[in-house]
Amino acid sequence: MCGIVAALAARNVQGILLEGLKRLEYRGYDSAGMAVLDRAGALARRRALGKVAALEEKLTEDALKGHIGIAHTRWATHGKPSEANAHPHVAGRRLALVHNGIIENYEPLKRDLEAEGVVFDSETDTEVVAHLLERAFDAHGDLLAAVQATLARIDGAYALAVMHVEAPREIVGARKGSPLVVGVGIDENFLASDTLALLQVTDRFVYLQEGDVVRLSDAHGIEIFADGEPAERDVHTFEHGDGAASRGEYRHFMLKEIHEQPAVIAATLEGRLSGSHVLESSFGVGAKALFARVRQIHIVACGTSYHAGLVARYWLEKLAGIPTTVEVASEYRYREVVVPENTLFVTLSQSGETADTLAALRYAKGRAAGYLGALAICNVPGSSLTRESDLALMTQAGPEIGVASTKAFTTQLVALLLLTLALRRERGDARETALVQALRGLPALLEQALEMDGPIAELSEAFAEKHHALFLGRGTQFPIALEGALKLKEISYIHAEAYPAGELKHGPLALVDADMPVIAVAPNDELLEKLKSNLQEVRARGGELFVFADAQVGLTAADDLRVLHVPQIDEVLAPILYTLPLQLLSYHVAVLKGTDVDQPRNLAKSVTVE
Ligand code: G6P
Repeated sequence: MCGIVAALAARNVQGILLEGLKRLEYRGYDSAGMAVLDRAGALARRRALGKVAALEEKLTEDALKGHIGIAHTRWATHGKPSEANAHPHVAGRRLALVHNGIIENYEPLKRDLEAEGVVFDSETDTEVVAHLLERAFDAHGDLLAAVQATLARIDGAYALAVMHVEAPREIVGARKGSPLVVGVGIDENFLASDTLALLQVTDRFVYLQEGDVVRLSDAHGIEIFADGEPAERDVHTFEHGDGAASRGEYRHFMLKEIHEQPAVIAATLEGRLSGSHVLESSFGVGAKALFARVRQIHIVACGTSYHAGLVARYWLEKLAGIPTTVEVASEYRYREVVVPENTLFVTLSQSGETADTLAALRYAKGRAAGYLGALAICNVPGSSLTRESDLALMTQAGPEIGVASTKAFTTQLVALLLLTLALRRERGDARETALVQALRGLPALLEQALEMDGPIAELSEAFAEKHHALFLGRGTQFPIALEGALKLKEISYIHAEAYPAGELKHGPLALVDADMPVIAVAPNDELLEKLKSNLQEVRARGGELFVFADAQVGLTAADDLRVLHVPQIDEVLAPILYTLPLQLLSYHVAVLKGTDVDQPRNLAKSVTVE
């Protein structure tokens, strides 16, 4: 989704802003732009439709020079992707604004401004705010006051950064509903929607809180205001290093992130296991007492994170005996949810900023009656979701750049298994000991699964010309089939669906013919024999089967049946392991099809609007 970078420095900022935009490309966008105040104090702007490279070309031909600037990647919501709709938006050649989010009441505000004679250059909601700010600056003579007065008039979600020719050494930013961080430099400071955008210039960040307004200036450095009053915020050091922002030896970030899974899963387990049991302290202060009271769980998430929740339902009900519901956040937040007493509300999110997931959390907190408390399982420290939840378990996936989520998903699964074990009434028993041992052995098994890369690359050739694919699984492998289908859709644009294999006869079997590859995940579990019968149903209809299976299950390859062996694993942990071959399959199919693997069309990494 949209991205913001802003810099106030004593050096030319074009390079810093451009590099920041490149680092935000992974979020998904359709146009980009930059504005600076040049040495003569005038506002200069360049914008381009398409990739940041198109903007870079314009800047190479006609560079911007200035020590203060703002830049943006836009993902269209109001108004089509075009240069005119790209940010920064300018009002009266004096003020420039970049904005993420949606201004919900922009229509009446726009009508009022038009009645006053304002002519709009774009179809965006953002330009309305630029004109309001310009007028407020004239009324107050001060940029901070202008921003505060304007924010009082707008509804919706925003992160924004603004500068004005008459405040030539100031940038003011604000956040409500969309993330914004302050990058703390030495005699220079920055704003960005994502820490990654600034790692080339600093590793020290202030995570702004909801409703915060920030002023960067030469005179006072960084000043933060909450409800109009000065506020103190901690400075955090980013600990993952800048390596996460480069592809290294890999052709794509997605492939790099798939291969990082053994290491990041080991990191997610680090410090959370003691001998043979899971430490409740991993979930934060007060977790033990709260967990003892849990009788019901509501899990809410979006996209890939939702699939992790679906796996957890099987675990929580089977291993911990706790009734669990899992729902996509955009549905949960608008439903009249019935909340039984002592319900733990769990959100899953890579980014911690997904608009619907955050809204669902706020909805749950507003209906406090049955809710015991909220736990966030999240990959971004300091994100809105972790700050607004009672408890948080941080996954240690490190920054994930590929839009299609891979390592964030498997680390969420590990975190959810830790939660399941922590919630069991029979703590410290042989089952917990065995699963803790199995978890410790997981990174090594994942390494083995990654050795399937070559054979899977070969297999992927059978998919490159196909238009549809069907994924099948049973039990905990059904959500893994859903995730496999989502990955294939997202990055190769092949229509893919997933079904619990037992549902085959109730509809999808009608689709099966030689043009419909069917992919099945078949670990050696209690549902194996039933799955095998379902696979026979496919073969009998002339379908071509691709099965990822434990060598022990005794499936023999044939003309219409390709079998790839996955390492043997405890059936509880199998969904984590079986995810990897499906990720590799979608990756290789996308590479063969020549799509933009890391930034698939129309999609965004962090969906901060509804
Ligand atoms: C977007 C991303 C997905 C992600 C989903 C939820 O759709 O493209 O990869 O699963 O958002 O994001 P979250 O950050 O809440 O996990």
